[in-house]
Amino acid sequence: MSSNKKLFIQTLGCQMNDTDSQHIASELEKHKDYTQTEQIEDADLIIINTCSVREKPVQKLFSEIGQFNKKKKDGAKIGVCGCTASHLGKDIIKRAPYVDFVVGARNISKIKDVVDVKGAVEIAIDNDESMYEFAAAKTNKYRASVNISVGCDKKCTYCIVPNTRGEEISIPPEMIVKQVQNAVDEGAVEVMLLGQNVNSYGRRFSDKRPKYSFTKLLQDVSKIEKLKRIRFTSPHPLHMDDEFIEEFAKNEKISRCIHMPLQSGSTSILRAMKRGYTKEWFLNRAAKMRELVPNLRITTDIIVAFPGETDEDYQDTLDVVRKVGFDQVFNFKYSPRPETAALELKEQEIPDEIGSARLTELIELHKRHLEQEMPKLIGSTVNILVESLKPNGEISGYTDNYLQVFAKGSDDLLGKFVDVKVTDVTRTALKGEVIA
Ligand code: 5AD
Ligand code: SF4
Repeated sequence: MSSNKKLFIQTLGCQMNDTDSQHIASELEKHKDYTQTEQIEDADLIIINTCSVREKPVQKLFSEIGQFNKKKKDGAKIGVCGCTASHLGKDIIKRAPYVDFVVGARNISKIKDVVDVKGAVEIAIDNDESMYEFAAAKTNKYRASVNISVGCDKKCTYCIVPNTRGEEISIPPEMIVKQVQNAVDEGAVEVMLLGQNVNSYGRRFSDKRPKYSFTKLLQDVSKIEKLKRIRFTSPHPLHMDDEFIEEFAKNEKISRCIHMPLQSGSTSILRAMKRGYTKEWFLNRAAKMRELVPNLRITTDIIVAFPGETDEDYQDTLDVVRKVGFDQVFNFKYSPRPETAALELKEQEIPDEIGSARLTELIELHKRHLEQEMPKLIGSTVNILVESLKPNGEISGYTDNYLQVFAKGSDDLLGKFVDVKVTDVTRTALKGEVIA
């Protein structure tokens, strides 16, 4: 039975937040009869799923909910979820009294209980949702995201996540396999396994059971017959042991694209960040990956201007960027976050102009790299999973190493793997013609 209640949900931040939003929507659909709308003015419930990893999205939250409050129809409710909800809790309602409820990043299963309770705040970071069965989260018909753990046990000194998502608990492997199987039964051919730190998987479960490993989980998931592609994010460079790299290389279902968050190329900054690896370790792991996995694309996250970062430290970052030849770089300027250990380094904070200049230079360096590398793909043939068709008759899909490709096509190609001859490139995508 369908009802007229409509949910509008806005997501800020990372891929875990995207999946959390899909879980929020499916919980509200299943238990409270909400259906989603893209039109804020039609919504009976407006939810913003927030990020607190840097300061900007937090500021954005308050300006956005102010806008939502102006646009919403009479009687519509507003809820704030996610990491900023965990972090600010009831202060959100104090600052914006029109907010009806607040649900933290680790309390998604509570959404159905609080949605009708004015002033409810559910933000306990020791809440254990690792055994809660959420409906499969689908990005599109062919691609599903499945969480493999909650929380993070690392204590990277710049990072607020351990304070908002709590300690790391792995979801039991049989539950993950079942979730992936369910998604595949509904037509998915690709799965994205998600966790703050995927390759530390299996160290702690909420029930008593022996330890497990991420490598074993990859083996389990890849046994699902109709599943064609496995992706995951984020692995931690520290835990990229040989066993993991070898499994990555030989398991043909694993997508040839890996996210290796560098953060800094300087061993002394990495130590101050408590990342647990050195510049040399990172270079060694990246080289081993490139050696064993042909066509591998490596993406990364980099923070510039961490407190105490000297020009020499920064040059080490540029050096790693040049040596690894990252295929995509997400660059950030250090942003001091509440309750993080790096706040103690306040005196060593880097002036903003220097941070901005470093960021700009890094972006430029990488742009030049892509301008050099991408045209080399013109004339080659790539295989893509066709995921969507635009009204102008252009299909879009991703290669096995996760490059987006556009070509003329038709809806009979949707969900199929097709070969495309590359005729043109941008810095981030390919254009081509489907080979019949
Ligand atoms: N300042 C800047 N960037 C940060 N990140 C995490 N915390 C901070 C911070 N305090 C970046 C890291 C991480 C990505 C998701 O966000 O690079 O990998
Ligand atoms: Fe934050 Fe480090 Fe955990 Fe990633 S691994 S979520 S950067 S503490």
